[in-house]
Amino acid sequence: MARSPILLFAIAGVVLLLVRNLSTRIYYARLARRHGCKPAKPLPQGERILGFSLFKEQMKAAKEARLLPLMVQRHRDHGNTFKGAIMGREFITTIEPENIKAILSTNFKDYKLGREDALGPLLGKGIFTSDGARWEHSRALLRPSFTRDQISDLDLLETHVLHLLALIPTDGTTVDLQPLFFRLTMDSATQFLFGESVCSLLDTEHKAGNAFATQFNFAQSEVVKRYRLGPMRRFYRNKQFDEACDFIRAFVGGFVDKALAYNATFKSIQDVEQNSSRGEKERYVFLQELAKQTNDKETLTDEILSILMAGRDTTACLLSNTFHALARHPEVWRKLKAEVALLEGRRPGYEELRQMKYLKYIMNESLRLYPVVAGNSRVAVRPTVLPVGGGPDGRSPILVHQNQPVSFFSYALHRRTDLFGPDAEEFKPERWETLRPGWTCTPFSGGPRVCLGQQFALTEAGYTIVRIVQMVGGRLESRDEHAWAEKMGLATCSFYGVKVGFVEE
Ligand code: HEM
Repeated sequence: MARSPILLFAIAGVVLLLVRNLSTRIYYARLARRHGCKPAKPLPQGERILGFSLFKEQMKAAKEARLLPLMVQRHRDHGNTFKGAIMGREFITTIEPENIKAILSTNFKDYKLGREDALGPLLGKGIFTSDGARWEHSRALLRPSFTRDQISDLDLLETHVLHLLALIPTDGTTVDLQPLFFRLTMDSATQFLFGESVCSLLDTEHKAGNAFATQFNFAQSEVVKRYRLGPMRRFYRNKQFDEACDFIRAFVGGFVDKALAYNATFKSIQDVEQNSSRGEKERYVFLQELAKQTNDKETLTDEILSILMAGRDTTACLLSNTFHALARHPEVWRKLKAEVALLEGRRPGYEELRQMKYLKYIMNESLRLYPVVAGNSRVAVRPTVLPVGGGPDGRSPILVHQNQPVSFFSYALHRRTDLFGPDAEEFKPERWETLRPGWTCTPFSGGPRVCLGQQFALTEAGYTIVRIVQMVGGRLESRDEHAWAEKMGLATCSFYGVKVGFVEE
């Protein structure tokens, strides 16, 4: 007798679940009919409930630096859009430009990033982890700090580029450029954001700064691990990661305190402007500008770390991938040198850089063939529809369920021969003379969350390339027989580094 209320409660619970399940199915079936949706092709999988074998296969491929070729092959074998199951969740993967446009732009509000869990311990609630109203607030806060004047301080960049150039041998000795580019972008980003560089290129003299770079690198690699683990990350703890996050946040917190104290000494923005008009031109410091809009220490720390995360590795990867390609294409290097020679040895200005067409083609082609953000994903916040990918011919719309992850691999999209021609896998900057790719190639993303630092990154990378050509020059030789393979963090560069030699001609 005593058990019957519990039994009744359990039966009621099961019935309720069944009814809910049935009504959801009916709702989805109606929605699918209304939009003419057909199912996406399923990826052949032995077991589709947990999808553990797929997870294992992907983790193995990632460890062996062949996750990206695996994705290309899967799309070649199973079409531009397919569905599968991984770690107990059904996902959709697509390399259809129309779908990517729908996810990032047309139906933007139907998706969230879903990465706060993985990145939150390091980045808090900044722009790179937020969705909805909180993201809108972050974007509005940060956007004014990315105007042209603020990102075109090439004198500031030159200091760090000179530190880089000092480490590049001009006598043909082999050098791995990749770690140097990571140090360069750490130095320039900290200068731009905090007003003080960690000067990691100057090595031992700046020990506190280098400790920051080391801890930041480590925390980033852990964040990637957490991201890949998906829902399993709740079982993963690493004390060293917790300590690294504490260290990094305290380090940045020190700069936030300084910026708040600095702003407190100037009662208003006019004070700063009056100072400037007296000839004491202030150097632009991102954090100080941000601290004029909010004095909340947590918010400032979160946003600055988000920008550092978004901007530092990405630009270093672009530079690394570009030199990897340049070292294997002497004819492209020669044409670039000819364009740079038009400057007659002068350092390029911001506008001059923008006018250098071949340099632009080279960076575009590097971002096409080796997209720095090689894959990305979103999670549907409500039932929604992707325009194509369903049915036997893959041309019908597909239904996306609430909470379903949708991923898209630019690396595979950019290798589609039907979109980029039979030479899609070749490095050919000249294709950009006529290529107007729209949603087939969006290395900086698109829609409301388009990269805020696009111009900043292209300026920094372009300037660094030009200065290397001017100051080191010579014949650029590859000193590594390997083809490009992925080293995938949040951004993607070369697994074997960028080992080159600059030989006098
Ligand atoms: C080659 C260099 C870069 C590439 C390829 C790149 C690419 C991207 C991509 C694909 C996104 C969208 C990510 C997503 O929504 O999932 C993004 C977002 C973002 N990027 Fe970049 N980025 C680069 C450099 C930079 C730099 C230098 C900065 C800042 C100094 C920056 C700041 C941001 C920010 C703040 C966002 C978040 C925008 C938002 O969510 O509203 N990026 N970037």
